[in-house]
Amino acid sequence: MRKLFIAGNWKMNLDDVGAVQLCQDLKTQLAGCGAAKVDVAVFPPFVYLPIVAEALRGSTIAMGAQDVWTEGNGAFTGEVSVDMLKDVGCTFVLVGHSERRHVIGETNELLNKKAKVALAGGLNVIFCIGELLEERQGNKTEAVVEEQIRLGLAGITAEQMANVTIAYEPVWAIGTGVTASKEQAQEAHAFTRKILTDLFGAEVAEATRIQYGGSVKGANAAELTAEPDVDGALVGGASLKADDFMAIINNGASNVGGCGGCCCG
Ligand code: PGA
Repeated sequence: MRKLFIAGNWKMNLDDVGAVQLCQDLKTQLAGCGAAKVDVAVFPPFVYLPIVAEALRGSTIAMGAQDVWTEGNGAFTGEVSVDMLKDVGCTFVLVGHSERRHVIGETNELLNKKAKVALAGGLNVIFCIGELLEERQGNKTEAVVEEQIRLGLAGITAEQMANVTIAYEPVWAIGTGVTASKEQAQEAHAFTRKILTDLFGAEVAEATRIQYGGSVKGANAAELTAEPDVDGALVGGASLKADDFMAIINNGASNVGGCGGCCCG
C-alpha cells in the first residue's frame, strides 16, 4: 500500500494568530502519533507562509503554497515565484485547484506550465483534477479527468512524477458537505491511475499517490482511504481545526496499521 498523504488546504481562511495556533495544536497532537504512518502537509495563504514555517519548525508537517506563477521574476504584479516559495520554506505547491480553474479561470495549458516550472524548480506538486456536477450528470467525468491529466501533465517526465501527487476533487463535492461515495472515488481514482499508466508506465502509475478531496471529514476518512486507489485526502474546511484534521489523519492511519493507540481514542 502507498503511504497515505493527508494535506490541509486552508484556502483564504484564518488570520496570523489562528494560523500559528493551528500549527501548534497539530504539532502537539501529531507528536508520536499518526504522523509516522501518514505524510501530512498544510497549505496556508501566501502571507502566512513565513510564520507557519516558523510554527512548524521541528515537526514532520510539510508546508506548501496554494498557487505559484510560471516565471522566475519580473513584471508580474501580484504573483509569486517558485524560488520565493522555496525561500520561505515551501516544499509543495497546489496546482489546478478547482477554485483556480473555475473561479479564477485558469486553463489546462496554464496549469501545465505551472506544474512544469514548479517541478523544474524542485517543488513537489499536488496536481488537482475533477469534474463539475453537470459533467458527471452528462457522463463526462472520465473525458474531463482524462483531458485534465493529459494536458496538465504534458511534457512532465516519468522521473518527475516521483514529485507529483494527483488530487481527484469532484467540484460538486468541494465545500458542499456532499462527499463522493467510496465507490465513486475508487472508480475515478482507478481511471486516473489507468491514464497515468498509459502516460508513464505501470511502475510510475502504481507509485503515484492519488488523493481524494471534497468534504472529507473524520467520519468518512477511513472508508475513503480504505479504497485501494485512494492514497490520502486533500482537505479544505475540516483542515482548519486541529481536532477535525487530526480525526482525518488518525482515521486514515487506521488503514495503514493505526497509530499505536496513542491518540486514536
Ligand atoms: P473541502 O475542500 O474539504 O472543504 O470540501 C476541499 C478542497 O477544496 O481541497
